[in-house]
Amino acid sequence: MPLVGGNRFLASTAVFLNEVAKLAICLTVSLYDISRNAPPSAPATSLFKTLYNSVFTQDSWKLAIPASLYTLQNTLQYVAVSNLDAATLQVTYQLKILTTALFSVTLLHRSLTARKWVSLVLLTLGVAIVQLPDGSNPADSPPVDSPRPELRIPHSIDDLFEMGGLLAAHLTRRSATYEGIQEDQGLAHPQMNATVGLVAVIVACTISGLAGVYFEKVLKDSNANTSLWIRNVQLSFYSLFPAFFIGVVLKDGEQIAEKGFFMGYNYVVWTAIAFQALGGVVVSLCVNYADNIAKNFATSISIIISCLASVYFFDFKITFSFLIGGAMVMFATYLYSSPGRRQPPRNIASYEK
Ligand code: C5P
Repeated sequence: MPLVGGNRFLASTAVFLNEVAKLAICLTVSLYDISRNAPPSAPATSLFKTLYNSVFTQDSWKLAIPASLYTLQNTLQYVAVSNLDAATLQVTYQLKILTTALFSVTLLHRSLTARKWVSLVLLTLGVAIVQLPDGSNPADSPPVDSPRPELRIPHSIDDLFEMGGLLAAHLTRRSATYEGIQEDQGLAHPQMNATVGLVAVIVACTISGLAGVYFEKVLKDSNANTSLWIRNVQLSFYSLFPAFFIGVVLKDGEQIAEKGFFMGYNYVVWTAIAFQALGGVVVSLCVNYADNIAKNFATSISIIISCLASVYFFDFKITFSFLIGGAMVMFATYLYSSPGRRQPPRNIASYEK
C-alpha cells in the first residue's frame, strides 16, 4: 500500500474515525425516521430534541457493555495477530461460530436441535479448512527467516480490513496479510508467543459471541421500542470513548502530536474506513432482521465468495482444501436451514377416525 510522505496511517485514528462515520450514518437515518413521523410544521429544533431524548434514554447505558466488549475484542485480535501466524489465527478465530451459538442458547434461550449443532460444527470446520494454506498461493508461504511481527497495532490497511472481518478483508487478505504486518517491521521483535496468541484468540471468540448476542438481546428484548438506528447511535457513542482515550490519546498520542492525526491518510485509508463503518451497519441489520448465527453463516459464505472473486482480482488459485472447505460450508448452510425430518404422527389411527 502506498505511503504518504513516507508515513503509515495510525490504526487508532482509523478505528476512531470508523466509529465517527458509523455514528454519522446512524444519526442521519434516525433523524430521517423522526422527521417522517413528525408533523410537517415541526421545527428542526424539536426534531433534534426528539433525537436527543431517544438516544439518551434511561437504558442507553446498556450499550456501553457491547461497546466495551467490542473494543476489548479488537484489542485482543491485535494481540492474536501479533503472536500467531495468519493461518492459525484465521482457523482458530472461527471458534466464534460456536461461542455465538452457545451464548444464543444460554442468553437468548434459543433451542438448537442436534442437526443444527452438527451443521454449526461443520460450518466452523469448513470455513477453517477454506483458510488453510497449502502453499499454492503467494501469501500462504511467508519467508521462513522473515522477522516475526511484534506485539503492536498493525499498520497496514489489510490488517485493518482483517480485523473487521468484512468481505473486503477477504478480497485483499491472501495477498497481503502476512506481508502487511511484516513489511514495516524495522523494529521487529523476534518472539511470537503462541500461548499468548491462542489465549487472546479464544477470549476474542468468546467476547465476539457475547457482545453480538448481548446486542441482539438488547435489540429484541427492549420494551422501550427503541429503533435499531438509535441502538447503533448509542453503541457508536459509547465506543468513541475507548477508541479515543485508549487508542488515540494513550497509545498513539505522542506520534499524533508530532506528525498529526491524518498522517499517512490517502483515498485507500478513507475507503477502508467507509467500508468498516458500512460493514458494522450491515452486521447490525443482519442481527436485527435475522440473528447472530445467521450473521456467521453469511460471513462464512462471504469468505467463499471473496476467495472466488480473488481468482479474478488477485490470481488466487483454487486449492483442494478450498474445495473441501467450501463444500462443507455449503452443506452446513443447507443442513441448518432445511427443515428437519417431520415426526410421523404418533397415532395414525387417530387421523383415520
Ligand atoms: O468478529 P465479529 O463477527 O464478532 O465482528 C463483528 C463486528 O461488527 C465488530 O467489528 C463490531 O464492531 C461490528 N458491529 C458494529 N455494529 C453493531 C454490531 C457489530 O459495528 N451493531
